[in-house]
Amino acid sequence: MKKKDIVSILDLTKEEILTIFKMTEKLKKNPFEETLKGRTLGMIFNKPSTRTRVSFEVAMTQLGGHAIYMNSADLQLRRGETISDTGKTLSRYLDIIMIRTFDHNDVVELASSTTIPVINGLTDLLHPCQVLSDIFTIIEKKNTCLPDRQEKVDDFNFQDLTIVFVGDGNNVCNSFINAQKILKFNLIVSTPEKYKPELLESNKDVKWVEDPFKAVEDADIIYTDTWTSMGKEEERDERLKVFKKYQVNKKLLENVKKKHFVMHCLPAKRGEEITDDVIDGESSIVFDQAENRLHVQKAIIKFLLGYE
Ligand code: CP
Ligand code: NVA
Repeated sequence: MKKKDIVSILDLTKEEILTIFKMTEKLKKNPFEETLKGRTLGMIFNKPSTRTRVSFEVAMTQLGGHAIYMNSADLQLRRGETISDTGKTLSRYLDIIMIRTFDHNDVVELASSTTIPVINGLTDLLHPCQVLSDIFTIIEKKNTCLPDRQEKVDDFNFQDLTIVFVGDGNNVCNSFINAQKILKFNLIVSTPEKYKPELLESNKDVKWVEDPFKAVEDADIIYTDTWTSMGKEEERDERLKVFKKYQVNKKLLENVKKKHFVMHCLPAKRGEEITDDVIDGESSIVFDQAENRLHVQKAIIKFLLGYE
């Protein structure tokens, strides 16, 4: 069997995404298994992390397996060993690898040099596990509003869903653009002209609306993320000025016509891209979102290792 990676959401079909979500529903109900007894996930981190690191590690524990955290500064990568030689070597010890790094091409190279599945745990370009998990959260939240729904995933009508991403056109935003290609929900991106997402041109179905007050009018989901992603810290002062009108605050939400949810992948810079009253308010689902990283990633690991 050819090994499968998740470097991008585009590595998955709609059917595969729905399979992962259905596995997630089961795993969330029954979290502990011995399925992965004796199996090991290696996690390479070249950037900080709270949620991704802990949720992947706990995922392996709850599935009966084990995870190894590797800070890339402690690996021979730091002394010039190539990604490809690292990947070939790690394939001889591990069953699956997760990597978080800067350059997206490094993940592509790792995936092509390993004989085991590779999961992208965030690059400057993409954050696929985040967005897969966020879409699961949206399905879960939108369907619990409807009584008598048992099979949440199969019934979900993506055409009726409007997600508005407000702020910086970053890695999370790019992964939503990819997810839209497959799942066909309505996606509106509201960013300053200079900070349009890199992948916007790759998907003509995605609308760009510069004015956030107009963009959010028909939103079911208002999604935001930091204005200064990891690696962009030197641009922080300029970004604080340019993004000011993109803050998700009470005034912006007054423009939303429907019942809506507010999402943020976290970590948040409270008072910058989102205000305290909104992130702690009744429409915010940010911590349910964070929790679901654990459940969805368990399904991702099992799926990539050939379980359904
Ligand atoms: N959302 C997310 O990936 O968080 P961490 O950076 O804490 O892993
Ligand atoms: N866009 C953010 C996501 C953090 C999880 C970053 O790259 O820093």
